[in-house]
Amino acid sequence: QLSPQDAAKQAAADAAAAMIEDGMLVGLGSGTTLRRFVRSLGARCQAGLKVTGVPTSETTRALAIEVGVPVADLNDVGELDIVFDGADEIDPQGQMIKGGGGNLLWEKIVATAGKRFVAVIDGSKTKDQLGQFPLPVEVIRFGWHATERLIRELLIESGYLEPKIVLRGGLDTPFVTDSGHYILDCALGVITHPEALSVALNRIPGVVENGLFIDIARSAIIGEPDGALKTID
Ligand code: A5P
Repeated sequence: QLSPQDAAKQAAADAAAAMIEDGMLVGLGSGTTLRRFVRSLGARCQAGLKVTGVPTSETTRALAIEVGVPVADLNDVGELDIVFDGADEIDPQGQMIKGGGGNLLWEKIVATAGKRFVAVIDGSKTKDQLGQFPLPVEVIRFGWHATERLIRELLIESGYLEPKIVLRGGLDTPFVTDSGHYILDCALGVITHPEALSVALNRIPGVVENGLFIDIARSAIIGEPDGALKTID
């Protein structure tokens, strides 16, 4: 028996997998919703659908192979036909926070390598404004304390008075991304100017990428616990 939120994720995942046509080159996102999507796509591949998936994490790559979705490396293919991925938050303009699962860097690279990005989410991810979910910022391990100080200064200058910045996993067992970096989760409350913040964060030496996905989502499939779906184009 699925929890109400898992049922909503499943509904969105199945609807997204049903959109895929024979021959497509498909970006495969990461996270719990996308795991459901990859399994659903795997079932379609077992039934004869021919696609190639480009995974956004080692975890998704392993799952895709396990369930029978053929995978390719992004370096070995051209522009992707379509990219499906989850989100931690999405606002009415389609701007998103991603990276709750720690895969924001590969996710952003794959998302921007595709013709079309579809957010696959449950209804709890839609927000009027971004920021309730702490913003993940991926940083180089070398000198990360100095990078953190610069991030803090930027956030204070930008009006976030007491930004709470946490090293994901903690000092003793820090979380390490697929590219070997750390993640700093920045609790900001409400992000008033997501695009400006994203640009400013990425200018800091040591910051590799941040979890704000600006002007990337072209559409969204939103699942609800009763299986109902809302599509935004
Ligand atoms: C992974 O790093 C994330 O960007 C996910 O896409 C996002 O966290 C959504 O995950 P869930 O589907 O698990 O909510």
